[in-house]
Amino acid sequence: MGQTILVTGGAGFIGSNLVRYILEHRPDDRVINLDGLTYAGNLESLAEFVDEPRHEFVHCDINDGAKLDEIMPKADVVLHLAAESHVDRSIHDPSLFLNTNIIGTQCMLDSAKRHNIKRFVYVSTDEVYGELPLDDKSQLFTESTPLAPNSPYAVSKTGGDMLARAYHHTYGMNIGITRCSNNFGPYQFPEKVIPLFVNNLIEGKKVPLYGDGRNIRDWLHVLDHCEAICRVLDDGKPGEAYNIGGNNERSNLELTKMLIDLCGRDETFIEHVPDRLGHDMRYAIDATKIRDELGWEPTRSAWPQALEETVQWYKDNLEWSDHVRTGEYRRFMDQNYTNQG
Ligand code: NAD
Ligand code: DAU
Repeated sequence: MGQTILVTGGAGFIGSNLVRYILEHRPDDRVINLDGLTYAGNLESLAEFVDEPRHEFVHCDINDGAKLDEIMPKADVVLHLAAESHVDRSIHDPSLFLNTNIIGTQCMLDSAKRHNIKRFVYVSTDEVYGELPLDDKSQLFTESTPLAPNSPYAVSKTGGDMLARAYHHTYGMNIGITRCSNNFGPYQFPEKVIPLFVNNLIEGKKVPLYGDGRNIRDWLHVLDHCEAICRVLDDGKPGEAYNIGGNNERSNLELTKMLIDLCGRDETFIEHVPDRLGHDMRYAIDATKIRDELGWEPTRSAWPQALEETVQWYKDNLEWSDHVRTGEYRRFMDQNYTNQG
């Protein structure tokens, strides 16, 4: 039987892909898409679903408990993604991150508790585990790796993650937690490394590579992440966290060279800029638990093909990138790349 899924952050990168994924793959379900439309939220990312009867958009801040209480009774389950998501912004100004990602999550959990939501999935991140060394590739994050977040962003996500766990433990709420690695794909806000570098290269500008570029990320296609979130919603065990990863580790330098190639530029387009403060060295995920318990494996993340398709999407959607890069975006980018290090 179909259910009504409340997705928060559905106008952002992963959220808009998730709303599209649910509408296309789960024909019996309805989506209430709740988003505060910060600089990172844009309804243009879901333009084709404006008149879709199974999709309702609600403009709402997750810190607005009274408004949440009006919406929550209409939902059966919640997928909570709304967050401040950019590490560099958290380094410049942590306060908004703590308010949205911790207090906002508490508001969501309280409202969900009041309205007897059947299952609540908190979309966390692999950054809760801190970092791994570069020189021992056998080390991976598992669900029992101690949490040791390093950036203000990572701390704020860990606060939300631990609150979700506590609401299961204390109030018996049916909570699921997902901890995913770096996502790539269409509709990613162009402050993040892949769309930023692709747009720069298309426009003939250099790409600002932090430090020596040896830092490693594990890249997963956003639709593989969306499928995993749905698996955890449907079949994850109450109170448990699930790691999600692409088994696709790349150094930033390797990624940059691939993007340069795909955009027809050369290595003179790399600009080595001062490193991100406290820059985590390596993220790498052991996703055995979700594979063994829920039968999930990535099917859309293989490089170079998946990266090529993503780059092509940005080439084909210059108008989208143009529309989302507002004055606020430009002010932050100027500040970030002049004050770094
Ligand atoms: P994003 O920045 O693209 O989107 C965030 C969305 O949340 C935006 O639409 C924004 O308007 C909305 N939002 C922010 N503050 C809000 C508030 N106070 N009230 C209501 N809405 C608000 O982020 P993303 O990359 O799509 O990430 C989504 C979630 O997934 C986040 O929780 C993030 O921590 C997590 N995550 C992201 C990645 C990744 O690689 N991008 C990986 C793992 C986990
Ligand atoms: O691991 C999951 C996390 O991945 C999510 O929780 C975050 O929300 C998401 O933003 C992402 O965080 P990162 O910091 O890894 O992503 P970002 O795209 O900002 O940076 C990826 C790598 O590229 C990182 O090592 C820093 C580097 N970088 C980034 C930018 C923006 C550069 O070298 N230059 C840049 O200009």
